[in-house]
Amino acid sequence: MNKDLESIVLTKEQIKEKVTAAAKWLDGKYGSCENPPLFISVLKGSVMFFCDLVREMQTPVQIDFMTVSSYGSNSESSGMPKIVMDLAAPVKDRDVVLVEDIVDSGYTLQRMRDLISGRGAKSFTVVALFDKPARRKVDIKADYNCFEIEDEFIVGYGLDYAQQYRNLPYVGILKREIYEKK
Ligand code: IMP
Ligand code: MG
Repeated sequence: MNKDLESIVLTKEQIKEKVTAAAKWLDGKYGSCENPPLFISVLKGSVMFFCDLVREMQTPVQIDFMTVSSYGSNSESSGMPKIVMDLAAPVKDRDVVLVEDIVDSGYTLQRMRDLISGRGAKSFTVVALFDKPARRKVDIKADYNCFEIEDEFIVGYGLDYAQQYRNLPYVGILKREIYEKK
C-alpha cells in the first residue's frame, strides 16, 4: 500500500467486481437500443473506471471526453466547476451516459446535467464509481453508484489529490496529514 494512505477502500479485485456489475446494468439498459449510446468520461478522475467499464460491456457504444475542474489543489470543491475541455461531438438527440468518478458536493454533476440537457440530449444517465452522500450540497444523485463512502478523502484508480495518486490500481483513504498540512 502507498505510504500516504491510511487504508484501502477497494482492492483491484473489488474494483473489477464493481465494474462488471455496472457493465451488466448498462447492458440491460442499452442492449436493445437502436442507436449506440454516447458515453462521456468526465476527466480526469473517471478515466480508469471509464475505460474498464466500456470494455466490460457487450453493447456497442460511442465515447467522448470532457475535462472538468472544480478543485484547484484543495480537497474542497470550489462550487464552480470549470469546463476545461468540451466534448468533440454534439449530444443533441443522443442517449448520453455520463461516467463520473465520485459525486461529492454534486456541483459538477449538476453543471454537467444542465449543460447536456441544455444541448438537447434525448436522455441523460449517470454512472458513478463512488457516492459520498454526507457531503452533498445540491439535491442530485447518480442513477447507478458502485460504492458509497463516508466523508473521507480517497485517491487512486483515477482519483487524485493535487494531481497525484491517479495511477494507483486500488482506491484508498488519504492520510489527513497529507492534505491538512498545506
Ligand atoms: P463535486 O462537484 O463536489 O461533486 O465533486 C466532484 C469531483 O470532485 C469528482 O469528480 C472528483 O474529481 C473530485 N472529488 C470529490 N471527492 C473526492 C475524493 O474523495 N477524492 C478525490 N477526488 C474527489
Ligand atoms: Mg479530481
